[in-house]
Amino acid sequence: MAVKQNNCAICAGTFDPPSFGHINIIERALKVFDCITIAIALDNAKGCLFSFEERKAVFSEIFKDEPRVKIDSFRGLLVEYARQKGINVLVRGIRTVADYEYELQMSLANRMLNSNIETIFIMTEGRYSHISSSIVKQIIKLGGSGRDMIHPCVEEKLKEKLFPKSK
Ligand code: COA
Repeated sequence: MAVKQNNCAICAGTFDPPSFGHINIIERALKVFDCITIAIALDNAKGCLFSFEERKAVFSEIFKDEPRVKIDSFRGLLVEYARQKGINVLVRGIRTVADYEYELQMSLANRMLNSNIETIFIMTEGRYSHISSSIVKQIIKLGGSGRDMIHPCVEEKLKEKLFPKSK
C-alpha cells in the first residue's frame, strides 16, 4: 500500500496551559503521523490565562527537539482551518466517558461540516485521566505541586502569573 505523502494531523485545543495529558497525546500521535500541527484555539468564551505567545513558547520549549511538531493558532471553525492547511485528520484525547460524549458530538458535527475530516481518538494514559487545565491552575493557585501534571516550564510560567512579584 502506498504511504500517503501528507500523513499529518492536527491536535487542536485551548491548552490553557498545556498539561502532560496533552503532551502525551501529541507524543503518541507522532507514532502514527509524520507530523502534528498543534492548533491553539484563540476563540475561547472562558477567557484564557495564557496568551497565544505564551502557550506557543511553552510548546516550543517542550517540543524543541521534535521538528515534526508545528505550532499554530486558529480562529473560527476547526474544519475550516484544517481545510486551509490541507490536513484532514484531527487527533483528540479521550480521558473519561464524559469526554467520549462530548468528543462524539464534536466529531459528528465536524463531519457534517466537512465529510473529508476524520477524527482519530487516543485514549489518555491512565495517570493523566483526571488532569484538566482548570484543575492544574487550581492546584498551583492553592500552593500544590504541578510536578506530575505539567512540564516545569509551564509550572514556572503559571506561578509567575498567579503570584506576580510586586515591584
Ligand atoms: N489531557 C488533559 N486535559 C485535556 C485533554 C487531555 N488529553 N483533553 C482535553 N483536556 C482538557 C482541557 O485542558 C480543558 O480543560 P479546562 O476545561 O479545565 O480548561 C478541557 O479538557 C476541555 O477543553 P476545551 O477548551 O473545552 O476543549 P479543548 O481544549 O479540548 O478544545 C476545541 C476544543 C478548541 C478543539 C473545539 O472547541 C473546537 O474545535 N473549536 C473551534 C470551533 C469549532 O470548530 N466548533 C465546532 C466544533 S464541533
